[in-house]
Amino acid sequence: KKILLLNGPNLNLLGTREPQIYGTETLSDIESRCVAQASASGATLSFFQTNHEGALIDRIHAARLEGVDAIVINPAAFTHYSIALRDALLGVNIPFVEIHISNVHAREEWRNKSWLSDKAVGVICGLGTYGYKAAVEFCLEHLKDKAK
Ligand code: DQA
Repeated sequence: KKILLLNGPNLNLLGTREPQIYGTETLSDIESRCVAQASASGATLSFFQTNHEGALIDRIHAARLEGVDAIVINPAAFTHYSIALRDALLGVNIPFVEIHISNVHAREEWRNKSWLSDKAVGVICGLGTYGYKAAVEFCLEHLKDKAK
């Protein structure tokens, strides 16, 4: 099984970025934990972070050619305004789990709006960086392996 972990803008700053909201773990802590979690189940997990909308879309397009079975994505601020990201995820037709570290419903009202949630298999928010672990576990246990 192939899982792709995607992180959008400013998530490269995790660890020092508004730690009262996003915690003190770094993105590379999260990524290496997810890689280990997947490989313990005999799956492979690749990861990618970018601050650029087009780069994220290109990475999603490539995922189809690579035969990725599931995407775990924290789209960060793109969540709230990127129709292009929504179209990319729909265009490759790969099931995805949307994750947010913070509880977006308990913050500014405009963070309630997601252009992705209605197309996601599920959405996790407010569980801190544990949300990544939960999302990867869900993909490992519940999403179909195309190769099988
Ligand atoms: C976020 C929530 C978004 O509203 C915000 O723009 C982010 C991070 C989260 O993980 O809580 O950059 O996706």
